[in-house]
Amino acid sequence: MEPQAGWLVFLVLSLVPLCLPIPLRDFLLEQENVRRIGGNLVLGKWEEQVNEYLISLKEKEVAKAQKTGYFPPSMHFFRAKGLIDQSAVFSILKRMPKGAVLHLHDYAILSVDWLVHNATYLPDCYICFTNVGTIQFRFSKPHPPSPVPPGCSEWVLLKTYRKQLHNISEFDNSLLKNLTLVTDNPELTYPTQAFIWRKFENVFSTASGLISYAPVFKAYFYQGLLELYEDNVQYVEMRAIFPPVYELDGTKYNESWSMAAYQEVARQFVKDHPDFIGAKIIFTTHRKKNVTEIKKAIKKAIDLRAMFPDTLAGFDLVGHEDEGRSLWDLKDALTIPYSKGVNLPYFFHAGETDWQGTSVDINVLDALLFNTSRIGHGFALTKHLVAKKLSLNMDVPIELCPISNQVLLLVSDLRNHPAAQLMAEGHPMVVSSDDPSIFGSKGVSYDFYEVFMGIGGMSADLRTLKQLALNSLKYSSLPPKEKAQAKQVWQKKWDQFIADLCNAFPREL
Ligand SMILES: *[C@@H]1O[C@H](CO)[C@@H](O)[C@H](O)[C@H]1NC(C)=O
Ligand SMILES: *[C@@H]1O[C@H](CO)[C@@H](O)[C@H](O)[C@H]1NC(C)=O
Ligand SMILES: *[C@@H]1O[C@H](CO)[C@@H](O)[C@H](O)[C@H]1NC(C)=O
Ligand SMILES: *[C@@H]1O[C@H](CO)[C@@H](O)[C@H](O)[C@H]1NC(C)=O
Ligand SMILES: *[C@@H]1O[C@H](CO)[C@@H](O)[C@H](O)[C@H]1NC(C)=O
Ligand SMILES: *[C@@H]1O[C@H](CO)[C@@H](O)[C@H](O)[C@H]1NC(C)=O
Ligand SMILES: [Zn+2]
Repeated sequence: MEPQAGWLVFLVLSLVPLCLPIPLRDFLLEQENVRRIGGNLVLGKWEEQVNEYLISLKEKEVAKAQKTGYFPPSMHFFRAKGLIDQSAVFSILKRMPKGAVLHLHDYAILSVDWLVHNATYLPDCYICFTNVGTIQFRFSKPHPPSPVPPGCSEWVLLKTYRKQLHNISEFDNSLLKNLTLVTDNPELTYPTQAFIWRKFENVFSTASGLISYAPVFKAYFYQGLLELYEDNVQYVEMRAIFPPVYELDGTKYNESWSMAAYQEVARQFVKDHPDFIGAKIIFTTHRKKNVTEIKKAIKKAIDLRAMFPDTLAGFDLVGHEDEGRSLWDLKDALTIPYSKGVNLPYFFHAGETDWQGTSVDINVLDALLFNTSRIGHGFALTKHLVAKKLSLNMDVPIELCPISNQVLLLVSDLRNHPAAQLMAEGHPMVVSSDDPSIFGSKGVSYDFYEVFMGIGGMSADLRTLKQLALNSLKYSSLPPKEKAQAKQVWQKKWDQFIADLCNAFPREL
């Protein structure tokens, strides 16, 4: 509570003990409301109308959920998705221009249908089956050379394999299942965080055989941008781990090639969709690596940034935080850019943990000490009052990815997500989807739904949504001039979105 408010409570309660302090109550509620994310925004006339409409839809959905007991944000996303798809609020969130998505990973941006129904049907696609029920892919001509990956059967040409099957769509469904974490019974299938992270990294490895094939690599990124664009996203920053991209004859390319490919595809995409702003890449490496290897990765990132200054935004570490090295352990590597006088912006995942007080939990503070530009997740931030104050003063946002946090077992009922407190305090924040394809999600609208309905609760309104969209551009790595242009593009879409809803709702209500 503000000191000023504290005084008022004291005064009113002591002076007028017998009558209800209604003006004081209104004053205090208002104090809470202006501090929330978007609380300071003043809506225009049409926006006010849309807000009223949106809130009435939200109230209806919540009232229904209270009656039936089925409230999507409090359910596991695998079970909630079908309900969210039917939601009127969700249909509006899909249409909303959301600005930027700043936290995504390279091999998990596009729903897996395209990988199975398009990529695996390309010529020269081989599959092998491991003895633990997983699969690997490889494109090759001629037949892939031995040895096969560890634990794998022989390589089988998919085209031949499919020919002898009785039910191809059943088989294709099994491939889909290998590329996501989705299951009917997540609680039984994934008993622990360590367990689900292993499966998660396995899924990446399975997808990698397909996506790292040069023609698929480019097409995948293009289709991924398209899926985000169709979800009304205007700009993307994607973390990439740069597995070597390969050709049919086994030729392997290095990171420079992949960066050039990302840049070329992003530019082509903007050419084809002039109302899309673009995409940047954040260089990442696995946090299990030792200091020597992380030093190498940092140096590589510095070189690549010099080669691709407009496309490579900075550096981050990925992988299960609890099992990886803490940022502090890696300080000799992470201070290299500073000691060399080179600018390499950081975008650290930090505090993606439930283990308070452990070395990785303190990553939220260390990320800030290393001048991170944003904090990936920052799930643990509310437990660190000094770090939280620091991120507020440094204006460093957290990248909130609610579905990821739920699927990876940090929190089950999203109404209890710690970001509820950060939203109430107006802490800098953006919404992202992390690995939508692996969670059986798509774009970023589902995450917006969880934030709008669950984490923000009844207090979240159109101002919350507008502020989150504005934040996504504000905290992007776009240089100031491009940021201003991006905001114009977004604003035009936003005005259209508001106008369209105003025209539509007499019919929709
Ligand atoms: C993917 O495959 C389907 C079915 O063969 C086809 O209709 C669709 O056009 C393909 N999509 C792309 C982007 O190639
Ligand atoms: C193939 O399997 C699917 C279920 O995966 C089933 O719905 C479909 O009817 C089967 N088709 C045939 C021809 O058996
Ligand atoms: C992965 O695909 C293989 C081959 O079709 C299948 O046997 C296995 O059950 C699939 N895995 C999952 C998790 O569905
Ligand atoms: C990648 O390979 C090319 C030559 O094929 C070379 O010029 C470039 O420096 C290499 N990049 C990195 C990051 O090693
Ligand atoms: C770091 O890891 C690499 C690769 O696993 C290994 O070759 C090297 O010996 C390790 N260095 C140290 C100092 O542990
Ligand atoms: C972070 O930025 C501050 C202020 O610009 C500077 O004093 C500090 O040395 C920087 N730290 C690192 C590790 O870059
Ligand atoms: Zn992430």
